[in-house]
Amino acid sequence: MRDRAKFLAAFAKRPFDTGSITPSSAWLAQAMVEGMELPDADTVVELGPGTGVFTRVIEGQLRPEARFLCFEINRDMAKALSDRFPGVQVVNDSVEHLDRHLQAAGRKSVDSAISGLPWAAFSPERQATLLDATVNALRPGGRFATFAYSHAAWMPPGRRFRELLDSRFSCVETSAVVWRNVPPAFVYRCRK
Ligand SMILES: C[S@@+](CC[C@H](N)C(=O)[O-])C[C@H]1O[C@@H](n2cnc3c(N)ncnc32)[C@H](O)[C@@H]1O
Repeated sequence: MRDRAKFLAAFAKRPFDTGSITPSSAWLAQAMVEGMELPDADTVVELGPGTGVFTRVIEGQLRPEARFLCFEINRDMAKALSDRFPGVQVVNDSVEHLDRHLQAAGRKSVDSAISGLPWAAFSPERQATLLDATVNALRPGGRFATFAYSHAAWMPPGRRFRELLDSRFSCVETSAVVWRNVPPAFVYRCRK
């Protein structure tokens, strides 16, 4: 309940960054990590973790020596995440500066990137800037997962984002719809 309140407050302040009035469900979190090969990964990033629904599931699949960085632009959420997940490196900065933080962490590239960013709420330029920062950080063959709300995926910003994915990745697949998420959503699973 506190997480829902936190989300609502964030949405009221920054609707285009927050993109949703409620956190994702545990069912969507499970679909997000499927096929991401997390138990074999050395370096994993999460983009826009919010209150940490995906963070918990990702952390649970990683080896203790894997490096896990979460990029959260909202200061209050970043602080709450750090308190909740002391073993995770929470970066209170935008995804477009991913490369800088990766270098500071002594890592050259990322094996898997899992995104909760509200792509359909972004302008075309912002979609491209944030996706390019992510793709540039991924190693060849690296994996990327993100979700889209089913009702929004076929609207112009959602369709534009799908085209962007097709132009940046060698393989883009979609999961079945997670009907138990509110609203229903599906996952894009991509390989560089
Ligand atoms: C739709 S919420 C998703 C939160 C969580 N992953 C979930 O599914 O419940 C999007 C999150 O992305 C964050 N965000 C938006 N733009 C960002 C950026 N450029 N860099 C890092 N985080 C960003 C927002 O602050 C918000 O917490």
